[in-house]
Amino acid sequence: MDVETMVKLSSAREALQARCRTRPRIAVILGSGLGEFAAGVEGTEVAFADLPGFPRPTVAGHAGKFIIGEHVAVMAGRIHYYEGHSPGDVVLPVFLLHSMGVRTLVVTNAAGAVNRSYKPGDLVLIRDHVNFMGVNPLRGPNPSGFGPRFPDMTTSYAPELRALARSVSRTPLAEGVYAAFSGPSYETPAEIHMLEVMGVDLVGMSTVPEVIAASYLGMKVLGISCVTNMAAGILDQPLDHAEVIARGKEAGPRFVRLLSDVIDRLEPTG
Ligand code: HPA
Repeated sequence: MDVETMVKLSSAREALQARCRTRPRIAVILGSGLGEFAAGVEGTEVAFADLPGFPRPTVAGHAGKFIIGEHVAVMAGRIHYYEGHSPGDVVLPVFLLHSMGVRTLVVTNAAGAVNRSYKPGDLVLIRDHVNFMGVNPLRGPNPSGFGPRFPDMTTSYAPELRALARSVSRTPLAEGVYAAFSGPSYETPAEIHMLEVMGVDLVGMSTVPEVIAASYLGMKVLGISCVTNMAAGILDQPLDHAEVIARGKEAGPRFVRLLSDVIDRLEPTG
């Protein structure tokens, strides 16, 4: 992390801490079209715009605020690399949440299905990821007090959290490998074919930077993808962002239920 990002982190932390007295240990980052969960969480709302130096999301479907509750913090509106933000800014929220005391991070996203057995509307646990974004958010100086220079990524998606999610889920949950490209163009059919041959199940444009940062900081991560479409070239039809948002909204109630069930179980030990 460079000096500029460290300054942004400390001023954002000061501003956020001044606005809320609770110190939740769990945070949820909501993906595109999955914002419905935020409505059910009671807490102090803080817009990203009120945090000095904090990046702002520019995508439709991303509100750009934190809701800081008693046990859970929600980030509604994530910062994407494809919007032009630096990799450091993309993970600033993770550093901020960690600095507030969050140690368990639930990351969610809308994803395309590379695995042909999935269908739109499926909720899939992320078992592992492949970083095809071409950047790593930890590149640069490694100031002391955060994490190791070469963080291990072997169990970045905590097996015990996946087991917990499977045990509380009212429907069977598949587990898959998520690959991220930088976007904003969707993948080509050739890229999706490559992913398929490599054993990748899901594709998207987010999550990987945040999980790298969370692993570095020693946080436990649960990743959940909502399949919004079959990836490019699998069906004989073009991809459409409006469709992605619509499918995410449709899965909303099931997704909220799963998240709530997981969080209820996490809270006592949080
Ligand atoms: N590709 C990349 N990102 C996505 C997709 C996809 O097919 N669906 C939702 N986000």
